[in-house]
Amino acid sequence: MVATRVAVPGRGVVPAGAAVLRGDDRGVLHGDGLFETLHLRGGEPWLRDAHLARLRAGAAAIGLALPSTDVLVELLDTVRAGWPPDVEGALRLVCTRGPEGGGPPTVYATLGEVPSAARRARRDGVTVATLPLGVAARSRPELGWLPVGVKSTSYALSTAARRWAERAGVDDVLWVSTDGYVLEAPTANVVWLSGGTLCTVPAAATGILAGVTAAWLLAHAAELDLTADERLPTPADLHKADAIWLTSSLRGLAEVRSLDGLPRPGSPLTTPLLTLLGFEVR
Ligand SMILES: Cc1ncc(COP(=O)(O)O)c(C=O)c1O
Repeated sequence: MVATRVAVPGRGVVPAGAAVLRGDDRGVLHGDGLFETLHLRGGEPWLRDAHLARLRAGAAAIGLALPSTDVLVELLDTVRAGWPPDVEGALRLVCTRGPEGGGPPTVYATLGEVPSAARRARRDGVTVATLPLGVAARSRPELGWLPVGVKSTSYALSTAARRWAERAGVDDVLWVSTDGYVLEAPTANVVWLSGGTLCTVPAAATGILAGVTAAWLLAHAAELDLTADERLPTPADLHKADAIWLTSSLRGLAEVRSLDGLPRPGSPLTTPLLTLLGFEVR
């Protein structure tokens, strides 16, 4: 096991137990902050610029002053320097609102090994149940005031959904809107195959997180002779789909092997999609 690392701008790599934020940091008190999780492969952060672009868009949406991109890139380079290239890394970049009373934003990066559960889900797939989210599919962007599609450090909803999944005996959930559409998983997007089309849920219209992994996959669908589309599916649509996957940076792609208790056969496309995403299939 490679030890977890932590780095802070201006301080370099600090001992993993060193203080990097204050007790009154608004990231801790209010979940007022943003983060990105990147997959480190061969020692390089996969799709780094797309993650930094999403972070910057999120910061603009919530009025958070981020350091320059150069500073953030240097921070990522600092924390990953010397990381063994054959070990998959989970690289996190965290930017919070900083201390109460108007201190500067708190910024740091952490790097640890990709959890074995993520690699297992990539290899074996996941069991999934639908779970009501209590909002209509298009309601959040329509509000106007609510920053949507922001990767906030406020993950209480996601961790609650994860606990529900554990009690329900499934690996993960898919949130369903009050008007009956599947939106996303607590830490992943849903991608499915319908005929020769690779589909995902439209982020701008629904306010879900625009996944870097799903966007990359759909942009490269033609390499597997597939077309790409954004659609709002019902659970019934997904049951009829040729295959369903959850996509996210660390898991990459995890096939849904059962949905609401109904088993699904493994798709012949799972391995080609994992290969397309650059994952070694073992
Ligand atoms: C709510 C949510 N949706 C989707 C994703 C997947 O996004 P990405 O592919 O950029 O990791 C995540 C990632 O953690 C997430 O938290």
